[in-house]
Amino acid sequence: MCGIVGYIGFRHAIPILLDGLRRLEYRGYDSAGVAWIKDGHLNVIKSSGKLTILDKKIGEKREILTTIGLGHTRWATHGAPTEKNAHPHLDCRRKLAVVHNGIIENYTDLRDILREEGHIFVSETDTEVLAHLIERELKTTSDLFEAVKAALKYVKGAFALGVIWEKDPDHIVVARRHSPLVLGLGNNENFLASDIPALLPFTQEVLFLEDDEIALLSRDNIKISNLITEKEISRETKIIDWDASMAEKAGYKHFMLKEIYEQPQGIENTYIGRFSTEKGEIILPELGLSEKELSNLSRIILLACGTSWHAGLVAKYWFEKWAKIPVEVELASEFRYRSLIIDPSILTIPISQSGETADTLAGLRLAKELGSKVISICNVVGSTITRESDGTIYTHAGPEIGVASTKAFTSQLTALYLLALKIGLVKGIIDNSFVKDKIKALTWLPNVIKENLDSWQKDAKELAVKFHKKLDFLFLGRNLQFPIALEGALKLKEISYIHAEGYAAGEMKHGPIALIDEDMPVVALAPKDHVYEKLISNIEEVKSRRGIVISVGEESDKNLLELSDEIITMPSSPDPDVNPFLYVIPLQLLAYEMAVIRGCDVDQPRNLAKSVTVE
Ligand code: AGP
Repeated sequence: MCGIVGYIGFRHAIPILLDGLRRLEYRGYDSAGVAWIKDGHLNVIKSSGKLTILDKKIGEKREILTTIGLGHTRWATHGAPTEKNAHPHLDCRRKLAVVHNGIIENYTDLRDILREEGHIFVSETDTEVLAHLIERELKTTSDLFEAVKAALKYVKGAFALGVIWEKDPDHIVVARRHSPLVLGLGNNENFLASDIPALLPFTQEVLFLEDDEIALLSRDNIKISNLITEKEISRETKIIDWDASMAEKAGYKHFMLKEIYEQPQGIENTYIGRFSTEKGEIILPELGLSEKELSNLSRIILLACGTSWHAGLVAKYWFEKWAKIPVEVELASEFRYRSLIIDPSILTIPISQSGETADTLAGLRLAKELGSKVISICNVVGSTITRESDGTIYTHAGPEIGVASTKAFTSQLTALYLLALKIGLVKGIIDNSFVKDKIKALTWLPNVIKENLDSWQKDAKELAVKFHKKLDFLFLGRNLQFPIALEGALKLKEISYIHAEGYAAGEMKHGPIALIDEDMPVVALAPKDHVYEKLISNIEEVKSRRGIVISVGEESDKNLLELSDEIITMPSSPDPDVNPFLYVIPLQLLAYEMAVIRGCDVDQPRNLAKSVTVE
């Protein structure tokens, strides 16, 4: 939920820290701070509010010649978002600084013990306990690495942390358990961050720390050890093929708009190399499961949260049709607390953009414990969920910075579409010519989306002018469009703060129709598929109660045009199975334009963070 950065090298550290924090602000942005060492003294500046406030507070100090420092941008979990609670947190004598992402579950017990030993706490946070625990260990050792290692033996819970100490200006100590931490390698300089975008302007060579690992960073070396066995570990570096500009806005007003427009590329990058059109084959070597294991599966569990859960709801239709396999789409936050019936013949598929969502990760671990194989769908190389899966199908959407997930969603659909075809093929339910047709429909998408994005945005902008003052919205869809209705409602509420509900159109008569009046805009998703006539009758029900009908349907559909108060026109697709990829995009743009006209913070909506790494 928070963003941490660190630098040790030969350059001015403070500008590097601030740049890194700016790229991580989507992870949390209610307070921030930096710490550095200069002439043997530790210095700290912190502020509540957004990073720009910290930036102003630092002012000319950014030019101070210091080559070692830590930074932190916070999304509060313990203690209000105040300057006092902002990181870095210090020991009593203000000689060491700690930045932390995660939750120390036993912090109150530890704080009581430390208080009895005379430690004075100045914040309400769990993190401050870490600074005092390390301070206590430094009474018996002058080795910062050993002190941090010893201190962490007392700690329960999740952490990704960085520590500096004024008596050792040549080292940063980092450690992680259940919170992400990635190290960047440079020439005579090294970096740490919660996420890749903070490293990209400086290096593309990275190292991922695993759970229960601690590392010592110097200017020319990184030494990793296991916190429990204390054994040294050698870890392969990875080259991240995102460049810094990809993680920037590339000229768009918001990251979210850039990412909506990047969807054709994201879909294409996710399917490239994963099928043979000539043979009608699906190529997914990274699955980590044999074809025999795939064909013997008794059930599939799709496990996710939020938008990723909606992707699972769409995929359920594909898996059932093409692989004839029972599929459950589980909300991870519920799944992990149920008495589950799971065995090795079940495949669990966590779906996660960040690969760090705490509930999804906890569900993954539970499913594994109960014997399930796990193949994850994820957008971040080396993230925790991927490293704990038997195999991963990476989506290649590139960094998704906007808190509202867009390109990750259509890339997840792409990966799930391929996987459903693969399992159907392996099980002999479908044949290669069927797959060839499905590949043709999938590869039709990028260009047709590119051709329509501008007109969809124009329609969305016009609708936003008309309806941005409405207090409630209803989104209706049937079959493959039902999850898209849920997703359209989530997008609208999470960035424009308008209350919106997605509903199975067939359910209207079981209650929601009581909501319909002349003040209720109803977005109806109406492709000409096998449930079209049913959907049209739902629209007529809305009309007869004076509801405002905003349809999303085919440009050739004159009947729909007459029925609707407003319409966003869609191309007729060669295959209804790919309609979810198309129909979600106008809804993303509607949410975007509504948020913009309402003056909302599109990329960093209130109360939200990009990666929900706490429970
Ligand atoms: C989507 O717009 C939301 N920001 C949120 O629902 C998100 O999809 C959810 O938190 C899951 O995140 P993940 O895909 O990184 O696991």
